[in-house]
Amino acid sequence: PVIHREDYRPPEWLVPDIALDFALDPAATRVRARLEVQRNGEHAHPLRLDGDGLVPLSVLVDGAPLADSWRLDGGALLIDLPGDTHIVETEVEIAPEANSQLMGLYASGGLLCTQCEAEGFRRITFFPDRPDVLSRYTVRMEADRTRYPILLANGDPVGAGELGDGRHWAEWRDPFLKPCYLFALVAGDLVANRANFTTRSGREVDLAIWVREADLPKTDHAMAALKASMAWDEHVYGREYDLAMFNIVAVSDFNFGAMENKGLNIFNSRYILADPETATDADFDAVAGVVAHEYFHNWSGNRVTCRDWFQLSLKEGFTVFRDQCFSADQGSAAVKRIEDVRCLRAAQFPEDAGPLAHPIRPESYIEISNFYTATVYNKGAEVIRMLRTMLGAERFRQGSDLYFERHDGTAATCEDFVRAMEDASGEDLTDFRRWYSQAGTPRVKASLSHDAPGGRARLELEQTVPATPGQPEKLAMPIPLRIALFGERSGEIFGGEQLVLLDDEKHEILFEGISERPILSINRGFSAPVIVETNRTADDLAFLSAHDDDPFARYEAMQQLMLDTLVARIAHGSADHAPVIQAVRDTLADPALDAAFVAEAVLLPSESFIGDQMPLVDPDAIHRAREALRTDLGRSLLTDWREAYAANAANRYEYSPTAKGARRLRTVSLGYIAASGAADAPALAFDQFGQADNMTDRQGALGVLANSMSPEREKALAAFYERYRGDALVLDKWFTTQALSTRDDTVEQVERLAAHPDFTIANPNRLRSLVGAFAANQRAFHDLAGRGYRFLADMVLRVDRLNPQTAAKLVPPLGRWRRFDATRAARMRAELERVLAAPDLSRDVFEQVSKSLA
Ligand code: ARG
Ligand code: ZN
Repeated sequence: PVIHREDYRPPEWLVPDIALDFALDPAATRVRARLEVQRNGEHAHPLRLDGDGLVPLSVLVDGAPLADSWRLDGGALLIDLPGDTHIVETEVEIAPEANSQLMGLYASGGLLCTQCEAEGFRRITFFPDRPDVLSRYTVRMEADRTRYPILLANGDPVGAGELGDGRHWAEWRDPFLKPCYLFALVAGDLVANRANFTTRSGREVDLAIWVREADLPKTDHAMAALKASMAWDEHVYGREYDLAMFNIVAVSDFNFGAMENKGLNIFNSRYILADPETATDADFDAVAGVVAHEYFHNWSGNRVTCRDWFQLSLKEGFTVFRDQCFSADQGSAAVKRIEDVRCLRAAQFPEDAGPLAHPIRPESYIEISNFYTATVYNKGAEVIRMLRTMLGAERFRQGSDLYFERHDGTAATCEDFVRAMEDASGEDLTDFRRWYSQAGTPRVKASLSHDAPGGRARLELEQTVPATPGQPEKLAMPIPLRIALFGERSGEIFGGEQLVLLDDEKHEILFEGISERPILSINRGFSAPVIVETNRTADDLAFLSAHDDDPFARYEAMQQLMLDTLVARIAHGSADHAPVIQAVRDTLADPALDAAFVAEAVLLPSESFIGDQMPLVDPDAIHRAREALRTDLGRSLLTDWREAYAANAANRYEYSPTAKGARRLRTVSLGYIAASGAADAPALAFDQFGQADNMTDRQGALGVLANSMSPEREKALAAFYERYRGDALVLDKWFTTQALSTRDDTVEQVERLAAHPDFTIANPNRLRSLVGAFAANQRAFHDLAGRGYRFLADMVLRVDRLNPQTAAKLVPPLGRWRRFDATRAARMRAELERVLAAPDLSRDVFEQVSKSLA
């Protein structure tokens, strides 16, 4: 059944109050629910309570058992109710340890925990499982005291005590209205890293991060990030925390990153646990980013939630934007922006260009879990960022204040958000709303011409929005472009930066007083999520890569120069590498640049990003061209790389932006030394691997070795395994590093690793560490014989039986078949068809596969 956005109707019954009573047990948990229900409006429909796999053990209405006025309908419980308000009580039994979907109440490493977003609550109890039904929750839990000494739920603890026979109980109450997707409980043997935070208005908040005892030393970074997030949201958005307690729990089996349950965030442990020995700098950054993201949801998501799941980007796009800005403020804003754009281009652009393309506010879905996408999250964040760019920071803040004030305590829509921005700013955002309804990445053609004698320049802009599934025709999008012109000789900007709003198919801008040949810097800071094509020459790009004062534009010019060179080489079998080599040399030598930026700028675009620029992807040709350029860069600049390698050696580990930048540039340099073929490269990498006092350097060296044919490779992999086999998160890195290898035998290696005793498909982190990473290794995955495709399809089928949501996330790489040659396309399709033909396919996988074939 397809759900359509336009079919939205307000709930027929409301549930202002709910009391839940859990008798917790991994094999058989008894759940009793007491709902105060209220007819909403004039109608005679029965009360409909969603349920998934639940059998009612008893149903009471106003205290009396119901014999025949209820029935089950596709899992839901229907009850005929005579009056407008009633008390409905139900009782069910569920088995958390048998829950392999990790949705609802499940067991993970001896804990019991929940995940309800989007529709997991219906696997716990009968309830109207939709985000516009807001209730006050009281939760009582009882459990064995030895196995489950800690009992947590949303809100504040209101009571606890002993029961007979080794059991105990606790009761929690959440004073805030919330939808059921924000419900959470955790029971387990946990210890806490505790701290305090005083809000701006003087509220004392107890903070606790709950983990298994052995993990306690790895929680300080997350705690520091939490405090920083709380302060940041007060400072930048005027948003304070609202309960006396804020709890975070880390669990090792989790379908995605983390969940913003009110007052009780539950995290995938990979986004909480970090210490220098086991986590890389990128891991530290991800921990801080996700902690901030979930914390920010307290306002953008919880205090103001979504009316229906089509509005998901209302909370996710806005919250990603907020966490991106937070991270930018904590470290290098320029490098953060580069990383965000790289991530958008790696995940969202391909999605927007393929069979699963959808607007940030989708029109329909079969399974909502399939819409927790890079489009809803990351393109959604770009849309919010464009609003801020167009309105300016001050009016944007006034708009967000108005949004929170108007909609606090309610379930809102994307339209509500835009209207608040409109009302606060006085700006007409009618056309801007197209960003919510139209899918596809707009393309902007920009050509600059110079009339030297007249001292004028003319910039012609033209946009097209490609057709996407269900949307053959598109209207022009309002595209905010930050633009500057540089004088080729003087290097000066003519008249400063301009913000141009391209809101038509075509637009022309005239510049006066342009006395020398101008060079165009466009979409500075990546002001709009579009693809820009320009008539700039290689010299222009080299100029910008050395002189643009916008760090993103500078990085972008270098990337474009590299890309043009690679695409030319792929098309003609050869290309002049000299401009790239010169630009990289200049960047390495520029004393004004910090190491973190240099490391980003000198990296070649990924093989898949190169593929995205080609009419038809040729994975082998791309790999050869990129390796040839890498080798050439390595050889031509070998002395420079060795110098950078030596100059960025640290004596002792330190976690600071400067030290992080140095580590990054050091490993990037090591990669180029290895690419040069220098005889000492494996030994150098092995030294770094052995002597590292932190995971960033160690894994960096391992990654370089993983691509090599040297004996050091096997020695390092074995040593890494022996050292970390007991640490699941680090062992994930061991799998990933091998799955990402550029060696010719990666497919076989991955097949072998799938049979390794430490590999399991039941743990989503481990599954993704091997299978997800492999599918992202363009050349290995697109093995011409189709072994990669078969491997992935087998995995989809196996995982689907356990965990449909996670299985469905593996499908998109196969769905890109239209982008490949006939042989590969046929093999990819054949695997999709094999999956589609399998009996008992989940809705999740069915939707992704059928859309991919359509
Ligand atoms: N709201 C959570 C977060 O962003 C993610 C929930 C994902 N749910 C899902 N069904 N995929 O922060
Ligand atoms: Zn989120």
